[in-house]
This record gives sequence, structure tokens and C-alpha cells, in this order.
Amino acid sequence: MRNPAAGKAHTQTNYNMETVIATQWIMACYVDDVPENGGSCIKHGDEQIAIFNFTRRNEWYATQNLCPHKQQMAISRGMIGSTGENCEPKVACPFHKKTFSLLSGECIGDEDLSIKTYPVKITDGKVFIGIA
Ligand code: FES
Repeated sequence: MRNPAAGKAHTQTNYNMETVIATQWIMACYVDDVPENGGSCIKHGDEQIAIFNFTRRNEWYATQNLCPHKQQMAISRGMIGSTGENCEPKVACPFHKKTFSLLSGECIGDEDLSIKTYPVKITDGKVFIGIA
């Protein structure tokens, strides 16, 4: 299904200003490359970055694709949702269901694990990721 945001001249941002100051933006993909309420993966140098089109929340997120639990490149295939009183966005790894905040990268229920998160902005149907 075509994403209604694709091709429109608009900018949607999902980051805080502290993050933006030290950020270089890379074009990761097109909006249509990421399924609604799902994720895709891109390669950037030696890293894989998971990108999530959280259509139900009208939000975008990006994290490392590597799950720190058993070192699987799998986060982009995880199920996304919301949790807690603040409806914090989260992703659950498809292997053993370790769940990570899409905002902070912290593992919910296992404080020893965390994943890196990246700021995302959408401009003219393109997805940009902020790389520090
Ligand atoms: S590899 Fe991701 S939860 Fe185990």
C-alpha cells in the first residue's frame, strides 16, 4: 500500500534539539521503502540501521539493527507498539522478545541491555537519519 506521506513536500521530524546540534543527516531511503507499522534496514558503513514507520503514531524511529541479546541482526523485523502510562514506543526483537524503547534504546525489563537510537526526519518523501 502506498504511503500517503510519500512524494508530498513536507517535513516531519522526530528528535530533540540537543541531538540535532552534533548531527550529520544521511538520506537512508524513501518513505515507500519502509512498510507501514513496520521496519526496514539499511547499511551505513559497517553498521546496519533499523528504520521504523510507526504509522499508527505518525512517527518515525531509527535504531541499530543488531540485537545485543544474542547478536542477531533482527531489530528491523521486530514488532512495534507502545507501553506504559506514557505510551512509550517500543520494538520487540523477533528472536526472544527482548523489548527496547524506541526513544531511549533502553531494554524494558533488562537494564543491562540497550540499543543505539538515531534521530529521523522526513523531507519530500525521503527518510533522513542523523548520524553523530
Ligand atoms: S536475539 Fe534479540 S532477543 Fe534474543
